[in-house]
Amino acid sequence: MNTNDPAQVPGQQSAAPAQVPGKQSAKQPGQAAEATSPHVSTPPASAASAATSVSPVFSVRELWKVFGPRADRIPGSPEAHLPAAELRERTGCTAAVRGVSFDVHQGEVFVVMGLSGSGKSTLVRCLTRLIEPTSGSIGMDGEDVLAMDRTRLRDLRRHRAAMVFQHFGLLPHRSVLDNIAYGLEIQGVRKAQRRARAAEMVAKVGLSGMEHRRPGQLSGGQQQRVGLARALAVDPEVLLFDEPFSALDPLIRRDMQEEVVRLHRDEGRTMVFITHDLSEALRLGSRIALMRDGEIVQLGTPEDIVGAPADDYVRDFVRDVPREQVLTVRRAMRQARDGEAGQGPALAPGATVAEAIEAVARSGGPARVMDAGRCLGVVDHACLLDVVAGLDRAPQPSPDERTDADGSAGRRAGARESAKEDGGADGRANEAPDECADKPAPGGQQPGSDEAVTA
Ligand SMILES: Nc1ncnc2c1ncn2[C@@H]1O[C@H](COP(=O)(O)OP(=O)(O)OP(=O)(O)O)[C@@H](O)[C@H]1O
Ligand SMILES: [Mg+2]
Repeated sequence: MNTNDPAQVPGQQSAAPAQVPGKQSAKQPGQAAEATSPHVSTPPASAASAATSVSPVFSVRELWKVFGPRADRIPGSPEAHLPAAELRERTGCTAAVRGVSFDVHQGEVFVVMGLSGSGKSTLVRCLTRLIEPTSGSIGMDGEDVLAMDRTRLRDLRRHRAAMVFQHFGLLPHRSVLDNIAYGLEIQGVRKAQRRARAAEMVAKVGLSGMEHRRPGQLSGGQQQRVGLARALAVDPEVLLFDEPFSALDPLIRRDMQEEVVRLHRDEGRTMVFITHDLSEALRLGSRIALMRDGEIVQLGTPEDIVGAPADDYVRDFVRDVPREQVLTVRRAMRQARDGEAGQGPALAPGATVAEAIEAVARSGGPARVMDAGRCLGVVDHACLLDVVAGLDRAPQPSPDERTDADGSAGRRAGARESAKEDGGADGRANEAPDECADKPAPGGQQPGSDEAVTA
């Protein structure tokens, strides 16, 4: 049960939740003022694109957090976008978050990444006002977070958004079970009930048999599982992670990442996940916001970020990423010609280029990109090599995306926009299909069916 309905919150007296400024605008959710910065290319919807019809979980607009004397004079001033050192010298202030706008949609893993000091922790702490923003707006399910009184804010932190920290934050003299039950205890849940719920969570995070140990008797990975279980026990609408796995060794870290993937896939959990580790961001993120000096320099899917970096900073960040493991066949495919639509192995549009390389190598000829029985295009050796070499074109729209009237074409359409704004690959998307060499499949009909082999 999610407790984000004010009517269900114990002790909640407030009347109708305050509305986020600008919320009444006729724009579609996710299309509003998000990412007004000229640097930012933003898909109109997330991977969880069903969310286009409901309020975003978080809706952040022009958010600033400035530390230092008379901080509130900085946003909107001529100094606002000075380099950090110059701003500090002239005003004594540090602008940790500068004019950031984004939405977090229901069911997505929204990753915030960037170098140390880029403003990640400050930004995420602002979401629940653990740090008070200097200016801007934050909506949660359409409610104005900055207008919340203390009771409502406490409710937000106890019931609706749970934080998982890097250093676990466990109580050393309590058992695993009591640590997990702690959030329920401060909510006032009765002992028997909270212990039953904690026992459920112990099993969920794989700690059965360790209920009565103290945190000191657990490994780092096990302690972080307790931290995760404690956050899950209150069944929050959104989980906020601040570099939760950075203290863990690589194998345990991988294990915990799997846990996050599972929570996302099986339970549809909404998560905001901070990391400075690119491979973690690419692995977990539905979308990634890349920060530099308090600003979001690019916001997009992992494929957007790797396939169409917004500037040299992002390009540098993703330089060593194996493109074939992140980019999909949507990006590589060309139009089918001369009966190609009816033969060859079938791939789903979300199949990676690496998977396509294997399918094409095995079959010796082009593979088809199939969606609900329709052939969207084909990939052959030349197309796939282009992608690996970084000479690829922008993703091709499916017929559905072309005809979507409400602008909610989803993740891939967003990538297209992103490429266009970047002034990069989009121009090439309209070039003649025979830009890719057409190599007919040897041996005629290929094994395979219209069933896509890779989800
Ligand atoms: N309370 C504070 N007072 C003054 N400056 C602060 C304060 N908290 C953070 N800052 C500054 O704000 C900037 C952003 O800090 P923040 O902790 O958000 O970065 P981060 O991206 O989370 O870094 P890391 O990866 O090292 O955790 C930094 O320059 C930091 O020094
Ligand atoms: Mg931090």
